[in-house]
Amino acid sequence: MSETKKTKRVVVVETSSEESESDSDFEDSPTYKKKFGKNKKESSSEESNASEDEETKRKTKTKKKTVAVVTPRRKSTKLLERRVFTPGVAQRKAPVKSSLNPLVEAQLRLHVSAVPDSLPCREEEFAEIFGYVESKLQEGTGGCIYISGVPGTGKTATVKQVIRYMEDNRDEFPDFNFFELNGMRLTCPEQTYVEMWRLLTGEKLVHEQAMKKLDTRFSTPAPRRTHTIFLVDELDMLCKKKQTVLYNIFEWPSRPQAKVVIIAIANTMDLPERDMDMRVISRLGFNRLHFEPYNQQQLQCIVSSRLEGLEVFQSDEIQLVSRKVAGLSGDARRALDICRILAERCEREGRDRVTQVDVLKVHREMFTSSKMMYIRTCSQLEQFFLRSMVNEFYKTGVEETTLRNISIRFDETCASEGVKSPSLHGLVSVAVRLSSQRLVLSEDYRKGLDTKLRLNVAFEDINFALNARNI
Ligand SMILES: Nc1ncnc2c1ncn2[C@@H]1O[C@H](COP(=O)(O)OP(=O)(O)O)[C@@H](O)[C@H]1O
Ligand SMILES: [Mg+2]
Repeated sequence: MSETKKTKRVVVVETSSEESESDSDFEDSPTYKKKFGKNKKESSSEESNASEDEETKRKTKTKKKTVAVVTPRRKSTKLLERRVFTPGVAQRKAPVKSSLNPLVEAQLRLHVSAVPDSLPCREEEFAEIFGYVESKLQEGTGGCIYISGVPGTGKTATVKQVIRYMEDNRDEFPDFNFFELNGMRLTCPEQTYVEMWRLLTGEKLVHEQAMKKLDTRFSTPAPRRTHTIFLVDELDMLCKKKQTVLYNIFEWPSRPQAKVVIIAIANTMDLPERDMDMRVISRLGFNRLHFEPYNQQQLQCIVSSRLEGLEVFQSDEIQLVSRKVAGLSGDARRALDICRILAERCEREGRDRVTQVDVLKVHREMFTSSKMMYIRTCSQLEQFFLRSMVNEFYKTGVEETTLRNISIRFDETCASEGVKSPSLHGLVSVAVRLSSQRLVLSEDYRKGLDTKLRLNVAFEDINFALNARNI
């Protein structure tokens, strides 16, 4: 197609500069009429003038030349744009050498963001999620599956791996679209509708409208509609008193026309029993999958598989780290983080191997620092306060917040834990206690609810310390 256009463009340039006869031949072509109809009109009127007056003819010729020149220019601009926006990297003459220092290589491989091609120890969960989604696609129906497990047990990674596998082998499955939502990033549960509609159509609507449109879409038969798979991660954050959003999310897939598969992930195993209405649970159905925390062998396997071919750790050290983490949380991210820090230290200190002494030292620092110990042993309200600050950060993505915002999150946390919220005075005294321990940085509390607050500990450490306490 582009070849043809190219040829015609050349013809226009040549003929216009020579004689008007050949111009009219060219202008009869449908492509020209379609694309440059306006120019033709202009030029034909000019031609008639040209037959009357020689001077005008000369002028017309000049004008035609302009037309002919303008035409290819437009095209070449398009070509130029295409060239500009096509991402490309010059080919290397030789492959990049892998990092010479095995300790640096180990740090890269152990980073939690470096998700490996295959997830060891989650083969069964992979098969179950894959089997469910595939069956729904093949049947041409919809449904929802509920996945639970404490943070760092590979829930999100496993679902993403299933989707990646299906995307890489698209020809084996009916066509599908995949979209991802995260409860942590939604300002309120109703925002789910807005986000779902935006992902489906690219259109931004207010939540009432988005809900209506989604409802209509999912009830209207459309035999050729492509399947849609939604991953709703961090579902816990959508579980509020009013549960219409949850109800709809789980109800829509049951409509035969909808062709929607919902994969819902929550960190709490008993979320349905504890926080969901009966009508929501009935919509959710029985497709539930729980990710157990990793045990020592599994953590060892996860870390070792990332370090394959590198002689940085001995299996004893990995075993020790895995045992410590498995005993506290079973969070793969912790095990990976500790090993990465160990490799980093060794590199900094100019050694080439991690020893057991290093492991014990890092463990002591990470698990038994005074701040961690305080979080693990402080009062329930103080823990709720810290949890509220973490939730607020996840919701807004901003580290600094106000006591007013925290008091809202705090009430939510108390409600979901079935504990009576303290008075404002009680809340301030909790905040003051945490400030005095330097876990929270704050202005003086004279501004009341407008007092600015910020955590002085990593969010992961708070999550980790609080989860570790429950195990
Ligand atoms: N089985 C596994 N094999 C390798 N890495 C894993 C495994 N499980 C978890 N991880 C690592 O831990 C990180 C956190 O996992 P994630 O799926 O986000 O946990 P969850 O969603 O359960 O909180 C992943 O990015 C990955 O790096
Ligand atoms: Mg996750």
